[in-house]
Amino acid sequence: MSNSPSATAVHDVVVVGSCMTDLVSFAPRLPKPGETIHGHKFFIGFGGKGANQCIQAARLGAKAAMVCKVGNDTFGENYIENFKSNGISTEYVAQTSEASTGVASITVNDDVKTIFNPAPATADLDPDFYKKTDVFCCNETEAEILTGVEVSNVEDAGKAGSILLEKGCSAVIITMGVKGSLLMSLENQTPCHIPTRKVKAVDTTGAGDSFVGALAFYMAHYPCMELEEMSRRACDIATVSIQSQGTQTSYPSRAQLPQELF
Ligand SMILES: Nc1ncnc2c1ncn2[C@@H]1O[C@H](COP(=O)(O)OP(=O)(O)O)[C@@H](O)[C@H]1O
Ligand SMILES: *[C@@H]1O[C@H](CO)[C@@H](O)[C@H](O)[C@H]1NC(C)=O
Ligand SMILES: *[C@@H]1O[C@H](CO)[C@@H](O)[C@H](O)[C@H]1NC(C)=O
Repeated sequence: MSNSPSATAVHDVVVVGSCMTDLVSFAPRLPKPGETIHGHKFFIGFGGKGANQCIQAARLGAKAAMVCKVGNDTFGENYIENFKSNGISTEYVAQTSEASTGVASITVNDDVKTIFNPAPATADLDPDFYKKTDVFCCNETEAEILTGVEVSNVEDAGKAGSILLEKGCSAVIITMGVKGSLLMSLENQTPCHIPTRKVKAVDTTGAGDSFVGALAFYMAHYPCMELEEMSRRACDIATVSIQSQGTQTSYPSRAQLPQELF
């Protein structure tokens, strides 16, 4: 069933999540309903939060597998090729003739720690997601939906983080764009703020997925590393991804990154 060389080995990062083809049009403004306007650029890209995270982890050297379903069509075929060319196992990528199906359940090998990224977030998230994941990682918007605390600075993120710990999380990371990220855990409830480098942002699309993918890579490959250090490095990698255009196209590979990150 699989053509991946790592199919018989244990995967160290397994991502259950969405896999979408992005159809991206550039135009001076959004058209009104029914209006036709001139665009100046169009491209088709690989996206979907789950797949993005998987690509970033694989590019850093993780033995990654993706669990998702694609359609029985050209986009689905191309996506499977995209996974393969990034060295990702497609053993658990199914094709269906019905519409693409969203996947909400997490199935992981016992040895694979879990990161849960509540995107898109809903206020009535099943309480098990807080309790059963090792690292709960969300952005400012998601933190606000889940906790009711509007997160616009580091102090607010600390308040939201405390509520997420009360809900049963053992570790929480809230990413805050240019403000970096905030880490809190049951062991160390004092919020730890990790700032980012000041860079020129070209395209911040998919920065959060780059962060989660990089974090998964560190959790799998450096299990003894402190979560704080993993978050610092994941922030660095996500910050590299915002300095060029696109989502997966902007995700750096190991060879393009400073060796001290490994
Ligand atoms: N403008 C920026 N400058 C520097 N780093 C950034 C910037 N935007 C995002 N990042 C990096 O990407 C990470 C995730 O970004 P964020 O915007 O919180 O995620 P999302 O894509 O989910 O909105 C941040 O923690 C940070 O490390
Ligand atoms: C995909 O489509 C082809 C041709 O239409 C068909 O033969 C095949 O059974 C379909 N596969 C799935 C998984 O639906
Ligand atoms: C957080 O992620 C969601 C997707 O769940 C996205 O819609 C939202 O714009 C992001 N928020 C920020 C502040 O980037």
